[in-house]
Amino acid sequence: MPADWKRVAADARRVLASNRQRGISAWGGRRYDFVCPSPTRYPFQWFWDSAFHAIALVQVDPALAKQEIRCLMQGAQPDGFIPHMLLWEKSAHEAALREYSIALADPFFTATIQPPVVARAVLRIHEATGDADFVREVLPPIRRFFRWLRSQRDPDDDTLVAIIQPDESGLDASPKYDELMEISASPPEEVLPQLRRSMQRLFTAYAPYRSEPARIAVLDVFTWEDVMFNAIYGDGLRCLAKLCAIAGAPEREGDEFASRASRVRAALEAKCWDEQAGVFWDLAGWRERPAQVLTFSTLFPLILDDLDPVKAKRLVDEHLVNEREFWLPYPIPSVAASEPTFDPECRTDTTWRGPTWVNVNWYLYWGLRAHGRRDVASELAERTIRMIERGGMREFFDPRTGEGEGARDFGWSTVVLDLIAAEHGSG
Ligand code: GLC
Repeated sequence: MPADWKRVAADARRVLASNRQRGISAWGGRRYDFVCPSPTRYPFQWFWDSAFHAIALVQVDPALAKQEIRCLMQGAQPDGFIPHMLLWEKSAHEAALREYSIALADPFFTATIQPPVVARAVLRIHEATGDADFVREVLPPIRRFFRWLRSQRDPDDDTLVAIIQPDESGLDASPKYDELMEISASPPEEVLPQLRRSMQRLFTAYAPYRSEPARIAVLDVFTWEDVMFNAIYGDGLRCLAKLCAIAGAPEREGDEFASRASRVRAALEAKCWDEQAGVFWDLAGWRERPAQVLTFSTLFPLILDDLDPVKAKRLVDEHLVNEREFWLPYPIPSVAASEPTFDPECRTDTTWRGPTWVNVNWYLYWGLRAHGRRDVASELAERTIRMIERGGMREFFDPRTGEGEGARDFGWSTVVLDLIAAEHGSG
């Protein structure tokens, strides 16, 4: 049966409205106005969540999409760093520190990063509005952040940037990190306590160096070149080059970002591609050992328009539409069904170990279209809409049944609005 996309769109609009947080923060009297991932479980502002919220808000009211990015940019620091969480409400700080494994750089923000989806979000806002003044307004902190990533997070100068904690990719408990995080995947109830202990180990090792981020990456405690992070970074650089042109910046700036985008793609192809397996592996540690766990991020370079078409074809035909791996009734699972760590029911009570996430499907949908696979893209969009119709606007979903899991009324699942608009016209 075709999905009732109108009902799903209405629910997405409801969640975007009900998750909106507004006020004046004790953080220097700054005014905040953003959509939180979940009022109960995640009441703060997260870096990549907000970028997805902005993309969804474009379909509701572009003024709100701009507001989301403006609010996020208040976290930009003079050296270019932008934190992964802004904790606007002081009264909720204690609960946050108890609940999440996070390291703070300030009472109001964390010391760590998340994937730079923001450049793609700003380009989407411009595509919808043609508002070049908005681009000129938000471009400087975004440009500085991309330059910060390059100067602080590429210690081996190979163009790929490194994360220093698993949650910097946004994929906190992905089994691809298990070995380096000293996590044994069973029994399931042990995974989360082991992860928490390992995070503490990282925090202790990093504590003396927090003010010198470039040194942390060379400590080699958890230095990780993540394929999904770098694919988003490469796509972001490509978007930045376009945004520079829109803003009327000197041509050399656009050229700088465009050529770096090409080099990131080339580095992924040269260092992460496995010709035999037909996927891209993350590189673990200073010695860059391929992390051979089949997660969705092994497919992520598909989002790069200039990816070698032969590789793109293999990613799709051998893996993405493979029913033993990723093409389950409600694709794309965060971990392939063929992996021993595949945990679709979330028995480990933590994230990214099997369930399907809407933000991943959103990126892969556009990647499929960029590589001429409109048929697969449309099927992915339809199944995503049906999954939400079945499971609700949840944080993630059982890829076999579509049952909703994790937080309810979850922010970035509303990015389905963009898929609905692409497939059915305005939702
Ligand atoms: C979880 C996710 C992370 C997300 C955050 C807020 O920690 O793993 O990617 O940003 O929740 O939704």
